[in-house]
Amino acid sequence: MALLDKLKIEEIRSSVNIVDVISQHVHLSKAGTNYLGLCPFHGEKTPSFNVNAQKQFYHCFGCGKSGDVFKFLEDYKQIPFRDAVKEVADIAGIPLEIDTRSVQDKPNQAIYDLHNQAARIYHTVLTATEEGAKAREYLQNRGISDEIIEKFNIGLSLSDNDFLYQSVKQKFEESVLINSGLITFAENHIFDSFRGRIMFPLNNAHGQVIAFSGRIWRSEDLANKTLAKYKNSTTTPIFNKSEALYNLDRASQSIKKTHEVYLMEGFMDVIAAYENGISNAVASMGTALTEGHVRKLRAIAKKFILVYDGDKAGQNAIFKALNLLPSDDVEVVRIPDGLDPDEYNKAYPGALGTLMTTGRMAPVEFLMDHLRPANLSNLQAQLDFIALIAPKIAAIDSLTAQDAYIKRLVEILPDFEYNQVESAVNQRRENVVASQPTYDDSFMFDDGMAPPPPEDDGYSFAEQAVLPPVAPVPVMGAKKLSQIELSELQLLHRMIYHPSVLTRVVAAPNFQFVHRRYQQLFEMMARLGEVDETSLMTQLTGEDSETFYEVLSTVNVPDEVSDQEIDDLLKNFVKAAKGTHLQTLQEQLEQAKQTGNQALELQLTLQIIAQKQQDGV
Ligand code: UTP
Ligand code: MN
Repeated sequence: MALLDKLKIEEIRSSVNIVDVISQHVHLSKAGTNYLGLCPFHGEKTPSFNVNAQKQFYHCFGCGKSGDVFKFLEDYKQIPFRDAVKEVADIAGIPLEIDTRSVQDKPNQAIYDLHNQAARIYHTVLTATEEGAKAREYLQNRGISDEIIEKFNIGLSLSDNDFLYQSVKQKFEESVLINSGLITFAENHIFDSFRGRIMFPLNNAHGQVIAFSGRIWRSEDLANKTLAKYKNSTTTPIFNKSEALYNLDRASQSIKKTHEVYLMEGFMDVIAAYENGISNAVASMGTALTEGHVRKLRAIAKKFILVYDGDKAGQNAIFKALNLLPSDDVEVVRIPDGLDPDEYNKAYPGALGTLMTTGRMAPVEFLMDHLRPANLSNLQAQLDFIALIAPKIAAIDSLTAQDAYIKRLVEILPDFEYNQVESAVNQRRENVVASQPTYDDSFMFDDGMAPPPPEDDGYSFAEQAVLPPVAPVPVMGAKKLSQIELSELQLLHRMIYHPSVLTRVVAAPNFQFVHRRYQQLFEMMARLGEVDETSLMTQLTGEDSETFYEVLSTVNVPDEVSDQEIDDLLKNFVKAAKGTHLQTLQEQLEQAKQTGNQALELQLTLQIIAQKQQDGV
């Protein structure tokens, strides 16, 4: 956006009302001082999408998406920033001359060009050379037809040292060749980075090739244990491995139409899905699912379906991925017999499509199986297992489904009956619905937690009945928040508007937010130093920006701040950390009583007394 200066952008932003712009796409109703509607970025039945007319931003309490008018258009229409600015300028009637071709991309244009050229060369080598014929035979044996080779633009890098280099060296500057990562410049010689591999190009959203993954295929290479099966492009100015998704460019249309995306582990799996009529599947580039991937996909998908390998590693990867995704938005497909989707496709031709569309289960069902201890014969193991699963069942919307999962759990547990498990779920259910201080049981699966403060004993926190000194006014559509979350939000709010509070908290020894995302924003603000609201709005990105808008949307406190208020807020954090262990013990005691385990009851009572003494309660 070199052609547009900050002032111009500010002028454009302030010449429209965000409510008017969003209203053209989302039905909004007035709710207090804000406007409320159904979030266009995730599936929901009760509105939690807030538009703040006073401060000109939106924030969804459901999925966290937030930003200003430009960000809305970028995400809603999937257009680049400069196009969003242009569109708002048009609405405002402000004349704007900008080059519609990417100004920003120009510095890297040569690297894009080189990648596109390389993809063409690799593809030609595969389809029109003798070596290519052999590689095609390998692909054919794996069920990859010529049609698929065309569709996915698959290619071949020759095993010669520098075939690509010789083909492109006249047309590109040496710096471009080096920065592209496709050519390696060693001390005495120059050679192609990919040699003797079947090449899978990875495209960006505009269909430009930005990276490759190459698979070995010749029998001598397959026998060579020192060669990696797949080799991926290194990080370059146009390729970031932890955000890139294979096939996203081709899949995005179908993702937008169905609001669903299948996440798979390998390129071959994505291709196998495509052969089975599923065009909305993507894969990461040999990395686990990251927040970067999720953020990218969340803009266009409401439901994530995890179709990972059926082996142990794949199942562990599902477990990890569930931490990154709200459980309402996820389904899991298990591939039987420890196979990966591609292998399953070979073993059971035509069955993969049906499995992926109809064989899905809720995360809780997956977890019930995945977390089930090998030995459930002792009571404590069963109690622990109930403590893990009950909150997950309680969080499910449908009571019929809850009932079915309770029954399933009872079948697994030798010493528990329906009503016992149900009451464990009910306890959690109340916690989910009520905004009373609750024990946050999501910590087992939610990586939203910051590590416990140093003096903590490794348990998670419990949320004690510590009211924030100034209770924030509830906002329509907002999630029910625990007391500690309210305290965290309030403290962040004070830091945003009162730099002295930020300075004070930065200097506080051992201070830490309980939830990771709040801690993260705090650290970012500490790095940026004393900056005002507007600069934060423009400088924060990604999750930090979402959290920032969450603070602004949730907290409504008087402008005045006192030292006492901050003292009280800080005390809440200490209490939250301490309460943890005690609350866990008390819950276990409750369960021991219910099951009539007197020995355990006695043991837990002693532990509670000891803990209370230690805490000075
Ligand atoms: P897998 O080992 O499951 O491969 O790796 P696959 O998808 O079944 O591949 P085929 O069927 O043997 O051809 C899954 C993904 O992990 C990355 C690749 O992205 C691959 O698609 N990977 C795997 C690597 O990056 N390097 C490797 O050496 C292996
Ligand atoms: Mn495979």
